[in-house]
Amino acid sequence: MGLKPNPIQLHFGLKKPVRILHLTDVHLSLSDERNNEDMIPYAAKRRDIFFREAEFPERDPVGYLQEAMEYSKSFDCTVFTGDVVDFNTYKNYDTVKEILAGKDYMFCAGNHEFTPKPGIDSMELKRSSWDYVQSNFRGNMHVESRIVGGVNVITLDNGFRLFTKEQLDVLKQEVARGLPIIVFCHVPIANDMQTTENKDSARKLGYTEEEIAESVATANFLRDEPLVKAFFAGHGHHNHYWDFHGKPSYMTGGLFKGIVSEITID
Ligand SMILES: [Fe+2]
Ligand SMILES: [Fe+2]
Repeated sequence: MGLKPNPIQLHFGLKKPVRILHLTDVHLSLSDERNNEDMIPYAAKRRDIFFREAEFPERDPVGYLQEAMEYSKSFDCTVFTGDVVDFNTYKNYDTVKEILAGKDYMFCAGNHEFTPKPGIDSMELKRSSWDYVQSNFRGNMHVESRIVGGVNVITLDNGFRLFTKEQLDVLKQEVARGLPIIVFCHVPIANDMQTTENKDSARKLGYTEEEIAESVATANFLRDEPLVKAFFAGHGHHNHYWDFHGKPSYMTGGLFKGIVSEITID
């Protein structure tokens, strides 16, 4: 197996253990004549950057995604937390659709799914390309919940760091079900949801003051609600553990490196 599994154990007192596969940051970097022709050599450059960042792995990102989807068959649930593509091109999304066709998974986007070229991010771009990006994945990439063997698995979009009021409304409804909740999102949840620096970068992306305040309220709810037990994220490309106000929090490394997290909850 070319994959590099990262085992994670959580104990909620379940009658029967549940196994969840966490996949993130594939960074598919493909383009063809349907997009701007400059993107073809640019895509090759990006593939080289990720090949080096992964220290010359045995498979390319397409190969790791195919292998991970095959491997996912032995899990109760598979969750993607974004940056599946490095940029928004037809060739990238055709590849996603082909590999994920007929597969069951949950998905929230990262900061790369909406951009025509990495480095160009804005809420305007995200809003205008949202429906196209969503059309390439199953489920609801803004917020989704699924009960997996007594655990409420929730995905939340926070690709540009911020959460939304709609997500908070859904979270409150989900808490009423009384089950332990684990949350998956792209950007690791952290205290910087509320720092001045983060607010400045949110303003630059085009968020309003009201949206920023709503994100802080949602992050505070996640921090304070006892049924929210653990957090999983991507974005940083390496495995990492931190304690978020007493709640175990995990960042899974990039699938372009072959990394997958195998979460066992009992
Ligand atoms: Fe990433
Ligand atoms: Fe990211």
